[in-house]
Amino acid sequence: MPCYLDEAEQRALLADVEAAIAAAPLFQPCMPRTGKLFSVKMTNCGTLGWVSDRQGYRYQRTHPETGKPWPPIPPLALEAWAELGRYPHPPEACLVNVYDLGARMGLHQDRDEEDFAAPVVSLSLGLTCIFRFGAATRGGKTQSLELASGDALVLGGPARLAHHGVVRILPGSSNLLADRRFNLTLRRVTMPRSSASQLNGAKTTRSK
Ligand code: SIN
Ligand code: FE2
Repeated sequence: MPCYLDEAEQRALLADVEAAIAAAPLFQPCMPRTGKLFSVKMTNCGTLGWVSDRQGYRYQRTHPETGKPWPPIPPLALEAWAELGRYPHPPEACLVNVYDLGARMGLHQDRDEEDFAAPVVSLSLGLTCIFRFGAATRGGKTQSLELASGDALVLGGPARLAHHGVVRILPGSSNLLADRRFNLTLRRVTMPRSSASQLNGAKTTRSK
């Protein structure tokens, strides 16, 4: 959804993201096992945050360096989830990825979440990127599109497990932020106790 957030909303969301970074400083994740550093820096908002270190990828309740809980998800991001997500439960994580010029993210799937009926809702702020996405199967064809400041993207339904990544950040492409791109992805991490998706397929209800 191009131009999902207008300029005033982008500024308001940016202020909330900057406040979140002040509370939960950016960290540089690394690849499990190899320890190779990501070129992207990260933090999170929400009850759970995504981290990657030598032990693996996972969601956890606290910041890996400060040990504190993550700050709350910005209201405009929650609104985007409610409006675009088509999912009856709130998101638990809002991963904030920060791309300086030269940062990129290799093709991957988002599959550390329990309920793939829940989408991943993405919001971009600042510099435009070339975003690449393809099929759920590895090695399939990919397409590119530009994600600019204020654009929203939903990985949902048949596209929930699509491979995707960020090829390049375009310099001079934003009035909001001169030298960085922020991407927020909202995620439902745990299986809700009585989600529609669970009841649809289940003959008996599960009690936990
Ligand atoms: C991600 O896949 O986690 C981030 C995608 C993006 O930066 O647009
Ligand atoms: Fe992703």
